[in-house]
Amino acid sequence: MTHNPLPHEAPWWRHAVIYQVYPRSFADQDGDGVGDLPGITSRLPYLAELGVDAIWISPFYRSPMADAGYDVADYRDIDPLFGDLSDADALIARAHELGVRVVIDLVPNHTSDQHAWFQAALAAGPGSPERERYVFRPGRGDGTEPPNNWESVFGGGAWTRVTEPDGTPGQWYLHLFDDTQPDLNWDNPEVVEEFQDVLRFWLDRGVDGFRVDVAHALIKDPELPDWHGRAVMANGGDGETAHTHLGPMWDQEGVHEIYRGWRRLLDSYNPTGDPAQDRILCAEAWLPTQERTMRYTRADEMHQAFNFHFLQSPWRVDDVTEVVEASLVAAEAVGAPTTWVLSNHDVVRHASRLGLPVGTPRPNGIGALEPQPNAVLGLRRARAATTLMLALPGSAYLYNGEELGLPEHTALPDAVRQDPAFHRTAGEETGRDGCRVPMPWTAAAPSFGFGPGEESWLPQPDLYGVFAVDRQQGVEGSTLELYRTLLRLRREHDLGVGGLEWLDLGPEVLAFRNARGDGTPVTVITNFGEEPVALPEGTSVLVCSGRLHEGMLGQDTTVWLS
Ligand code: NOJ
Repeated sequence: MTHNPLPHEAPWWRHAVIYQVYPRSFADQDGDGVGDLPGITSRLPYLAELGVDAIWISPFYRSPMADAGYDVADYRDIDPLFGDLSDADALIARAHELGVRVVIDLVPNHTSDQHAWFQAALAAGPGSPERERYVFRPGRGDGTEPPNNWESVFGGGAWTRVTEPDGTPGQWYLHLFDDTQPDLNWDNPEVVEEFQDVLRFWLDRGVDGFRVDVAHALIKDPELPDWHGRAVMANGGDGETAHTHLGPMWDQEGVHEIYRGWRRLLDSYNPTGDPAQDRILCAEAWLPTQERTMRYTRADEMHQAFNFHFLQSPWRVDDVTEVVEASLVAAEAVGAPTTWVLSNHDVVRHASRLGLPVGTPRPNGIGALEPQPNAVLGLRRARAATTLMLALPGSAYLYNGEELGLPEHTALPDAVRQDPAFHRTAGEETGRDGCRVPMPWTAAAPSFGFGPGEESWLPQPDLYGVFAVDRQQGVEGSTLELYRTLLRLRREHDLGVGGLEWLDLGPEVLAFRNARGDGTPVTVITNFGEEPVALPEGTSVLVCSGRLHEGMLGQDTTVWLS
């Protein structure tokens, strides 16, 4: 079906391109081998020039880093690894000067076990109000069996038994993730109030929004019933294998009330309703259907939700067409924008993922002994996929390094792996370290210009040199220049708020027109098939993800035409 354009003055988050900065891996200013906030600030001009509207920064809070910062010990402070609060203030101020908005990561489902609340809960013992902030239960039977059979997303059991202050083995606490990440009890009003206050703390510092970690997990079925499934966050690679049976820990009705409260709070920061002043919420919620996902973006809840359905679509014309259409329909049904995303810090980089045989279930990392992606094909498809994605109406998320066409590091030695999923499954799952390797900025510099020193917290593969920013800047046809061109044209043609009309150019071709009604439409064509496709008469090329051959569009290539 045809989808209508939005008015010109549509709020920024309906069409923004938001670039995810993974702070450990973006830029290291102090030379300790780990990225930091001053490093990010120093590279903001690069991002402004790239043409993004906003950045989302993965957690920078005080943390023992058991899950790379998604284990927060203090929500109102910066981890010394990354800097301090004045560095955060400077980052926000500089970004705003450059016209770049700042979204930060909020982790409300669990804290670190080093958080003052959890330490107090351990010290206070069973029945105390301190324990009521988390999910503590007595064990089954004689107390030695966990309260139910739930498994952690990272592997192993989801319950850990504590030693009580008097030294005896005692209650169990729930952790859907690592045992260092105890789940909070969101039925406790104290928890609700605390997070309202944390939101205010950062809103007062000027942030433009929050990406909400595992937004669908906060409320559990109160019975905590047994469930014979693994509490996976994601699905396999094929739409077919999407889990349709969500466990009793996911997507409970009660979560929506929490977000309504947050929405009211955020809206109160924009009393005049000026769309430019909107502060936003974006849900990270891996759910089986678009409809369930978009319930988080109903008018009085969040502004956006990540479209992992798009990310997980197999690279086949029917699948991609179907997921785009379904995304737009589901978004329109609730009056929200859809988002588009291909890579983030939890998934194999799309330049590698798309180089695996089509239909391969999406792996959790790729190890050296596993089948390797076809790098050339992967990059070609990644460029085509991104060129398609950035022509779609709605908001789009990019992950640092994808603008360089960075592949996954598939040869990391196990000894350096940090992902708890690798350790908790005894290596059965490779885990997410391979997409988190520090950025190459300068081919000839130590750590490829990531920092002043040789070291980086995860070793960079030698081949990252050829992907370095300085090797691609100003180089015609480079992936970096492709992204810059796409972002410039997307803005010039208002594609983020355009309408979409499907075109039929053959069975192996995805094609549509993105038009605002008052400007020249942009025609977008992706060829999935082996047969080259002729470009429609009277059109001229705006940008192409690859090379045209005698005016024909080859396989796995996307073109924008005017
Ligand atoms: C989702 C985050 O993106 C991931 O990196 C993290 O491990 C889990 N949530 C737990 O916080």
